[in-house]
Amino acid sequence: MEIHEKIKEIEAKISESLKNVKLSKHLQEIKMKFLGKTGEISELMKGMREVPPEKKREVGQLLNDFRTRTEKQFDELNAKLKEKELEARYAAETIDVTMPAKKAESGSFHPNTLIRNELVSIFSGMGFEVFEGPEIENDYYNFTALNTPKDHPARDMQDTFYLAPDLLLRTQTSAGQIRVMENKKPPIKILSPGKVYRSDDDATHSPMFSQMEGLVVDKGITLCDLKGMLDEFARKVFGEGVKTRLRPSYFPFTEPSVEVDVSCFECGGKGCRLCKGTGWIEVLGAGMVNRRVLEGCGVDPDVYSGFAFGMGIERIAMLKYGINNMKLLFEGDTRFLKQFKD
Ligand code: DAH
Repeated sequence: MEIHEKIKEIEAKISESLKNVKLSKHLQEIKMKFLGKTGEISELMKGMREVPPEKKREVGQLLNDFRTRTEKQFDELNAKLKEKELEARYAAETIDVTMPAKKAESGSFHPNTLIRNELVSIFSGMGFEVFEGPEIENDYYNFTALNTPKDHPARDMQDTFYLAPDLLLRTQTSAGQIRVMENKKPPIKILSPGKVYRSDDDATHSPMFSQMEGLVVDKGITLCDLKGMLDEFARKVFGEGVKTRLRPSYFPFTEPSVEVDVSCFECGGKGCRLCKGTGWIEVLGAGMVNRRVLEGCGVDPDVYSGFAFGMGIERIAMLKYGINNMKLLFEGDTRFLKQFKD
């Protein structure tokens, strides 16, 4: 009978096509070829119209069975393939929890920041508050109010970047002293860190560097208070046993003015390369606030007195960490910076 043969023929084709199917996606394509709207089985079923009425029942039954069988065959195979695919996916997504993790790179603070933070922490412990003044300053705050009028020879000590006749990049954080005293009545105890600018550039100077300023104004402040506070600072920054000494110096805004040395923390004062054989290392400038500076800010110098000090942060960093070239602090080379990780 023709219909039996036809069915057999299609069945053979189906098993031939299914031989090498590995993916459910391909199985779906094959299914369409046989069971889709225009697939071979569907076409065969359309032929029912030509079947004589007395045969319709028998042939219809045969074809329906065939279609149901084939659908079942595809469904079963599909389920198997799907399961295999899922297993493969799970296997591929497996996480090996015993694998060593990738090392996360962490950054580090710049040595300048380390010193700045350390200084702020030391002086905050002594009751100082932080005040940050502007980097672009008026000539008045940077010089004139600091007892350094226009024709003063001390202006020569600081090669200045002028932006306009009366506007400049501050050459010293001392400018902040004036801003604080103008706005606050004593007692005053401030610390003023920040960037300063000078037209200077060699192995130990940079056109931009950082300073830390300190100012204390109250009744009865003396040079002894300054010395005591500096001793504490030196011990905390450079190590127990480090002493300070004051040498006479000159700054227009302090009287008397001093240069402050610390005993060499490398050789303990015997003399070495770091201290150039002297046993002492210069670290900052300081002094008693000049009465004219106090007066200019409306502070009565017969009632109040004060001391001030200013230091270069890069210089402290270079001394403390043994850095021999200041440029290393500005280049941002990670090989250098990495060494400051805690
Ligand atoms: N401003 C000075 C400089 O840049 C440093 C300095 C010296 C600051 C003495 C002070 C001070 O407050 O009292 O060289």
